[in-house]
Amino acid sequence: MRAPDDQHWRQLIADYFGAGSRLRVLRHAAAFGAPVFVVDFDRGVRHYRTFGSFGPSFGAAEPDEPQLTEQSSMDLLYPSHLVFHYERLMSLAFALAERPLTALLLGVGGAAMWRFLRAYVPDCATTLVDADESVVAIAKRWFYLSQNVVIEPAQQYLAANARQFDVVLVDLYDARGPAPFDDRFWARTIDAVAPGGCLATNWADFATNRAVRPMAEALQATARGRGLDTYYVTRRGFHDNLIQYLPRGGDRQPEALTEAFERFARQRRLPDRGRFILENCLVSEDFPLAI
Ligand SMILES: C[S@@+](CC[C@H](N)C(=O)[O-])C[C@H]1O[C@@H](n2cnc3c(N)ncnc32)[C@H](O)[C@@H]1O
Repeated sequence: MRAPDDQHWRQLIADYFGAGSRLRVLRHAAAFGAPVFVVDFDRGVRHYRTFGSFGPSFGAAEPDEPQLTEQSSMDLLYPSHLVFHYERLMSLAFALAERPLTALLLGVGGAAMWRFLRAYVPDCATTLVDADESVVAIAKRWFYLSQNVVIEPAQQYLAANARQFDVVLVDLYDARGPAPFDDRFWARTIDAVAPGGCLATNWADFATNRAVRPMAEALQATARGRGLDTYYVTRRGFHDNLIQYLPRGGDRQPEALTEAFERFARQRRLPDRGRFILENCLVSEDFPLAI
């Protein structure tokens, strides 16, 4: 890849976010394996700050041109609102957990999930893990993160972990795409979910990255081997992110999702009562695409 100070990156960022965008940081992130950046930009009356990166483009028309990926975003006026729809779907793990008092966030990025939890689920104690210390430094400097993060690969953290959490979120992406999850990773991740708790995993580019489906099905198989199961939710027609839930509570059926979500939105006073989060979503027991 080009050096991080290369003008080419700046140009790609300006092209993507528009001429009025303000680049705040552009630097190489060693564990992440690519240049990462922070950019501020406006969309109408809204002002956003996004943490982005460059990496391989899965199934894109120009495979040699690195793809700009928005890893995390923040509304500068409402920093605790979740900007990305997939993050709102991930937050439903807190609705599906019987008592969300502890959470393990694997993958911190721009700390969107952490800001949301601090505002809307403040009684939940969070443990944060991320492999890249410069990403975490960026989250602290530019995204209001004020909590310590365990800096190590999630695989290593889980190998030594004996604790259980009410919610475990897996959102592990770097320049190579999703972390290379294997059966041992899933076994350890499920072990880390307390009875009555919920695991949610984010699968980006699930329609174009062929590595995703076998990994998601490995998680499902590991869950089924323990008498549990997973299900999937994605926005119809978008093919961007797919969230895979593994609830360990009494109400494990996908049909329970809507009611749990409505209760959560009401009790936690989510912005706009969480309107549109589940609207126009496909809920499916199996991987929703034949790829
Ligand atoms: C998409 S971002 C997470 C965004 C986050 N959910 C949020 O709330 O803003 C992905 C993060 O995963 C981290 N990561 C990637 N592979 C990892 C691994 N194997 N172990 C720990 N962190 C990893 C990256 O450094 C990056 O910060």
